[in-house]
Amino acid sequence: MATADFLTQLFGLDGQTAVVIGGAGELGFALSKGLAQAGAHVVVADMNLEACQKRVAQLEEIGGKASAAEVNITSRASLEALLAEALKVTGRVDMLVNCAGINAGNPFLEVDPNLWDKIFAVNLKGMMEACQVFIAEMLKAGKGSILNIGSVTSHLPLSRVFAYAASKAGVVNLTKNIAQEFGDKGIRCNAICPGFFPAEQNKKLLDQQRVDNIMRGTPMRRYGKPEELVATAILLLSANAGSYITGAAFNVDGGFTCSWF
Ligand SMILES: NC(=O)c1ccc[n+]([C@@H]2O[C@H](COP(=O)([O-])OP(=O)(O)OC[C@H]3O[C@@H](n4cnc5c(N)ncnc54)[C@H](O)[C@@H]3O)[C@@H](O)[C@H]2O)c1
Repeated sequence: MATADFLTQLFGLDGQTAVVIGGAGELGFALSKGLAQAGAHVVVADMNLEACQKRVAQLEEIGGKASAAEVNITSRASLEALLAEALKVTGRVDMLVNCAGINAGNPFLEVDPNLWDKIFAVNLKGMMEACQVFIAEMLKAGKGSILNIGSVTSHLPLSRVFAYAASKAGVVNLTKNIAQEFGDKGIRCNAICPGFFPAEQNKKLLDQQRVDNIMRGTPMRRYGKPEELVATAILLLSANAGSYITGAAFNVDGGFTCSWF
């Protein structure tokens, strides 16, 4: 078998549909682009339809198949409408990527409980509901794959991002619970825990002291580039390449966590 055929058989996603929630964001778009390049139809789903449409145009420019959908992950009705939209456009849902997330930085004693709730509503409860809505559909097909985006803070306490870190710890736990519950039903669920990939939402949290600490703690001494998440995402999502991987929390972090575990 030719090398290209071998790799396509393992990692190719032709004819499959991936829904990426948070797909208009920096990491979500990099993942959308990678999945489209691997052959999937990508439903770019995010809060702002116009932002999704711009992302879809970018994917179509490079020959990708994609469509845009507005979603608010904190609304069950909105998630159900997203599933209906994906089914209307492509007739199937093979993969779900949960990449919506929000963050805020405060000293612990100043953490506003309402802000805590807001962060949990998006990062964890919304993710859980998205998994419920899409797994119900995947069970009908007897197959499906979910990728949840955690963080190095899923495992480690970083300063001033308490609600975020606690919610991301929950992401890994949720991922493992889903993997356990649906492992014998054809549905796999994995997480990627990215290190530091400065996007708009965390640039405002990065003062010089924090940057110095991050670089000291990152053996590769640099930030990640969003496209460096793509290969891991395809490995975990692909029914062929990732066929025996479920419940994994895969660190893509320039080595940040390697000295801790
Ligand atoms: N950038 C990093 O360094 C980094 C590191 C670790 C984990 N992460 C995680 O990766 C994911 C993507 O982050 P990013 O850095 O690309 O940030 P980003 O802000 O560019 O993307 C987040 C996306 O989530 C969307 N979103 C927010 N609330 C939503 C809601 N209620 N419903 C639907 N969509 C909503 C936003 O509109 C945005 O497009 C997040 O879960 C984040 O926590 C990021």
